[in-house]
Amino acid sequence: MKRMIKASIVTHEKIGENCWSMWLKAPGITEGVIPGQFAHIKLKQGEKLLPRPLSICEIDRNQKALRIVYAVVGNGTKDLSLMKMGEEVTLLSPLGNGYDIKATAQKSIIVGGGMGIPPLLELSKRIPGEKEIYLGYASTPFLQKDFEEHSEKLRIATDDGSYGYTGTVLDAMNYYHADGDVVYSCGPRPMLQKISEWAKQKGIPAQISLEERMACGIGACLVCTCKIKKEKEEDWQHQRVCSDGPVFNSKEVVWDA
Ligand SMILES: Cc1cc2nc3c(=O)[nH]c(=O)nc-3n(C[C@H](O)[C@H](O)[C@H](O)COP(=O)(O)OP(=O)(O)OC[C@H]3O[C@@H](n4cnc5c(N)ncnc54)[C@H](O)[C@@H]3O)c2cc1C
Ligand code: FES
Repeated sequence: MKRMIKASIVTHEKIGENCWSMWLKAPGITEGVIPGQFAHIKLKQGEKLLPRPLSICEIDRNQKALRIVYAVVGNGTKDLSLMKMGEEVTLLSPLGNGYDIKATAQKSIIVGGGMGIPPLLELSKRIPGEKEIYLGYASTPFLQKDFEEHSEKLRIATDDGSYGYTGTVLDAMNYYHADGDVVYSCGPRPMLQKISEWAKQKGIPAQISLEERMACGIGACLVCTCKIKKEKEEDWQHQRVCSDGPVFNSKEVVWDA
């Protein structure tokens, strides 16, 4: 069940060129989190009008703490990056529908790109069976060591060739002959579209996590809609990324929206 709490910062560190990791004490929230769900973070000062949606990257049930990993892109994330251990943020979580983990799948393919990578860490921890993980970055990777703990088949791709395979994450999947019974993915929309087409061609079901600008984060304002066409319905319909998603069946997403 979602709750609004004041969460104190346990650790906060820069883990990449423009990438921060923050652990927050979040009692009452961590117990029910499903990988792929997110938190709406309101800054302590309250001077920012809208909360910022950030995926839950990892959960520590013992410590009742959750981790977010984020890039600074504007004023909200800049302010967040300046916060120190012991300070508090107001947080509403867990929000949205996360991934539906297919326990019967023998082998899963996990594909992340850029700031879509963080929510796949908790997912990788929880998925049973064999896993192939493909992560795509513009340049230097982050969270690589964390993912290494969850699969022997971790493949990194960088656009600039600074690490791993040079090219897109999809190029790497083709190069390494990615194979499995189900695909879980999160990343920029053009990447997700290509992953969906790849999965469709191979006949593998795919769950993808979409990102849209958000306001309320709880399904009330309709700012975050995307087009979804259910298999048995004739027409597409608007669905809310914040509450019907962010994770959708890739076959149902209308990409030309
Ligand atoms: C479900 C979901 C999960 C996300 N998870 C992560 C994550 O784990 N790590 C991470 O770095 N980023 C993540 N993002 C993107 C993150 O929300 C934006 O980068 C952040 O809100 C930017 O805020 P800002 O004030 O720094 O930027 P500004 O550009 O100043 O923001 C202005 C407004 O636009 C909204 N906005 C701007 N960019 C985005 C965006 N890409 N998506 C949604 N709203 C946006 C902001 O919330 C704010 O209301 C996620 C977005 C969504 C929708
Ligand atoms: S952000 Fe308001 S309905 Fe999704």
